[in-house]
Amino acid sequence: MSPEHKEWQLDPASFVVVANRLPVDRVEGPDGTADWRPSPGGLVTAFDPIMRKRRGAWVGWHGAADEELEPFEEDGLVLVPVALSSSEVEDYYEGFSNATLWPLYHDAIAQPLFRREWWDTYLAVNQRFADRTAQVAAEDAVVWIQDYHLQLVPRMLRRQRPDLRIGFFLHIPFPPRELYVQLPWRQQILEGLLGADLVGFQLPGGAQNFVQLVRTRLSLETLRDRIRMPDGREVLARAYPIAIDARSFNQLAATKEAADRAAQIRHDLGDPPVLFLGVDRLDYTKGILERIQAFGELIAEGRLDPDEAVLLQLAIPSRQRVEQYRQLRDDIDRLVGRVNGESPRIGRPPIVYMHVSYPRVEMAAFYRAADVMVVTPLRDGMNLVAKEYVACRQQDDGALVLSEFTGAARELRQAYLVNPHDINGLKDRLVEAMDDSPQNKARRMKAMRRQVVEHDIYKWADTFLDDLERLTQKPAHRAAG
Ligand code: ADP
Ligand code: F6P
Repeated sequence: MSPEHKEWQLDPASFVVVANRLPVDRVEGPDGTADWRPSPGGLVTAFDPIMRKRRGAWVGWHGAADEELEPFEEDGLVLVPVALSSSEVEDYYEGFSNATLWPLYHDAIAQPLFRREWWDTYLAVNQRFADRTAQVAAEDAVVWIQDYHLQLVPRMLRRQRPDLRIGFFLHIPFPPRELYVQLPWRQQILEGLLGADLVGFQLPGGAQNFVQLVRTRLSLETLRDRIRMPDGREVLARAYPIAIDARSFNQLAATKEAADRAAQIRHDLGDPPVLFLGVDRLDYTKGILERIQAFGELIAEGRLDPDEAVLLQLAIPSRQRVEQYRQLRDDIDRLVGRVNGESPRIGRPPIVYMHVSYPRVEMAAFYRAADVMVVTPLRDGMNLVAKEYVACRQQDDGALVLSEFTGAARELRQAYLVNPHDINGLKDRLVEAMDDSPQNKARRMKAMRRQVVEHDIYKWADTFLDDLERLTQKPAHRAAG
């Protein structure tokens, strides 16, 4: 993305996306001047093409603390920054969002921390996002609020602007009810979400959990995926499994640049006959340790020959000031060091581990280069990496090893599905994926490619927004919640 941007005279927008992050992060360049780089994560990957097609404004934090910025246009997108102070970054983003909600919503893989002062800041920051959105949205605008950081915004916004059509989409899993009810602020969050006309989830199970909680905890009347509100509104809670711009990944992977880069990557790795690839944000939900453990054991047992097979693990550091993430980074460093240290091979180690963020064409080259893509989250709302790999395999070759506990596993049934907690099972699956016949691989990949191309991000956004449009045609939606 171009670092240049021009200040923008903001007109009220008829389509507004609200997310914790803008698609670009403000960072300090090598010479100390402010610079911009693409923000990490699946949300930005998914929304970038949608926003380029539909235009509108994107409200979000620009990734730096203690800095007020005016709205600006960046590479064709209208961006409206919301400022956060350092202590808000600590309490709202690192604290309540990523040390309370993130672990709780991911099956409590890590212990969720419940701190009252974090909640107070979450409230205050959600209010700021709602206020900023109320200022930039045109009369009757469609406002689409994203993810767990902003679950109170729908209600706050409706109170100020009952004219708006409000959608909400949760990118991460909505937890089982018995976990959700641990949250001391469970009622406020349900009420916050119900400010939307349409609440979207990755999977039907999440939507069902939500509806059941609303019925039992708020005593609201529900009928299947519909919730009747005391003000007469009807809220719909439904699953919309998120997707990627599959054609664009497919085209990128087909370029000469990607082909040359893919060949170069393999060459730089010593032209191994089999390249295993992992691509993740460095997050404890992603099952990176389990994957490295399994690969290391296969090498140690002689089931994989380090001259023949290499695991390339790309992991962008994430949320580095949260303790559990720091710990994970140390654990991975140690485990990679141990596996590589125990390998007798001189030269390229069995695991090549990189912390670098790459441009999209380079990602397409990695996917094109990899024989076996290893996606092993312990829990993941969707996992776009799995879909990106499939989209880039134009020859219908390659193999996807995919955790059952990702949203993607519901659609990519022909992947080599695994339970990543079962290290022996994972080892067997890695070997099976590697050794399967080209015919079997092609049959599986063809079916998965059809799925990701037919259900792309444009269709996803159209389906959600058409449902929102239909719901809000009724005059009742204008009532203040
Ligand atoms: P999450 O949203 O939890 O990070 P996803 O798998 O849904 O997980 O999305 C991750 C996104 O980040 C994908 O679009 C992927 O291409 C991108 N990504 C992951 N690692 C890198 C990297 N090293 N460089 C650039 N992009 C990356
Ligand atoms: O998909 C979950 C998510 O939290 C997104 O909201 C975000 O794009 C991504 O992970 C990256 O996380 P962070 O914004 O904390 O770096």
